[in-house]
Amino acid sequence: MHVLVTGGAGFIGSAYVRNLLGGGLGPAPATVTVLDKLTYAGNPANLAPLAGDRRLRFVHGDIGDAELLHTLLPGVDAIVNLAAETHVDRSIGSAAEFVTTNVLGTQTLLQAAVDLAVPRFLHVSTDEVYGSIETGSWTEQAPLLPNSPYAAAKAGADLLVRSYARTHGLNVSITRCSNNYGPRQYPEKIIPLFVTSLLRGEPVPLYGDGLNVRDWLHVDDHCRGLQLVLEQGAPGEVYHIGGGTELTNRDLTTRLLAACDADWSAVRPTPDRPAHDRRYSLDDSRLRALGYRPRVPFETGLAETVAWYRANPSWWEPLLPAPLRRAAAPR
Ligand SMILES: NC(=O)c1ccc[n+]([C@@H]2O[C@H](COP(=O)([O-])OP(=O)(O)OC[C@H]3O[C@@H](n4cnc5c(N)ncnc54)[C@H](O)[C@@H]3O)[C@@H](O)[C@H]2O)c1
Repeated sequence: MHVLVTGGAGFIGSAYVRNLLGGGLGPAPATVTVLDKLTYAGNPANLAPLAGDRRLRFVHGDIGDAELLHTLLPGVDAIVNLAAETHVDRSIGSAAEFVTTNVLGTQTLLQAAVDLAVPRFLHVSTDEVYGSIETGSWTEQAPLLPNSPYAAAKAGADLLVRSYARTHGLNVSITRCSNNYGPRQYPEKIIPLFVTSLLRGEPVPLYGDGLNVRDWLHVDDHCRGLQLVLEQGAPGEVYHIGGGTELTNRDLTTRLLAACDADWSAVRPTPDRPAHDRRYSLDDSRLRALGYRPRVPFETGLAETVAWYRANPSWWEPLLPAPLRRAAAPR
């Protein structure tokens, strides 16, 4: 078995590759190729625990490069597509790269998979494609009503995936998960941003009234869900991967302050993000019927995540904006 993982130097992609080759997802494949453009969010250090592992090959490149794909895909049994531009705030500032990678890049990868008859394809998407839901939970049949350019670009990719399954018979499934957390997440997303700021004694920004609700999923549980869909998912189908822990951003902030020995004086209320979705909630009973259950209790996962950032400033300190780096003094 030869698996191509795109975006494998990012937060979730690298966790997937480490789990896959570490045997945490069942029998490991013979070889894994990581294809990653190494944008600001891609970090070779995320794969350092696998240094010297002959089963892993790293290729620095773009999922939108059809010529490169035609050299990489012969012999590949499965593609797991995690490559994307992923930060909502950046998509508000400038959306072009989101369309280029998330939409056009995914289409280029799908077409190459058809051209080279790749037997299996897993496309990783997000609950954000549905927009916002006040009460209840989305099933996989809910309409796509994205509100940010990031979510719209992901929704565009999902529709292309569907069309390649219908039109070309490509054996591709889509997963849509809730908010991931865990080690090695770029410190622009709320948990690593707050933790790395609080550990340096810096304030943290809380958007609006702080009552936006997110469902938290440990990255290792996400990886287990991805593997289940890769192995057992039906062609052309969508599967939700939920975490089962819904929290307002205020609740989350309270927990992060406590974990970092800080208090509410460190919190700076910040004008809300435009079109900030109020709540996401996934009904993941389709995947649970295949045996999926999140295993990592949120309290444990969060404590271990904070402990990881506390123990690894050498991973995140170089990612801080330059003026902050010299001031970094984790406590
Ligand atoms: N993090 C979350 O909470 C979350 C939730 C739902 C869905 N997702 C999805 O999971 C996937 C992975 O997210 P993440 O949090 O690990 O993101 P990330 O930003 O940490 O990593 C993205 C990776 O993709 C690479 N990349 C970007 N453009 C590329 C291109 N054109 N070609 C090749 N590589 C490219 C980057 O270098 C980086 O390594 C994304 O598709 C994202 O939409 C993430």
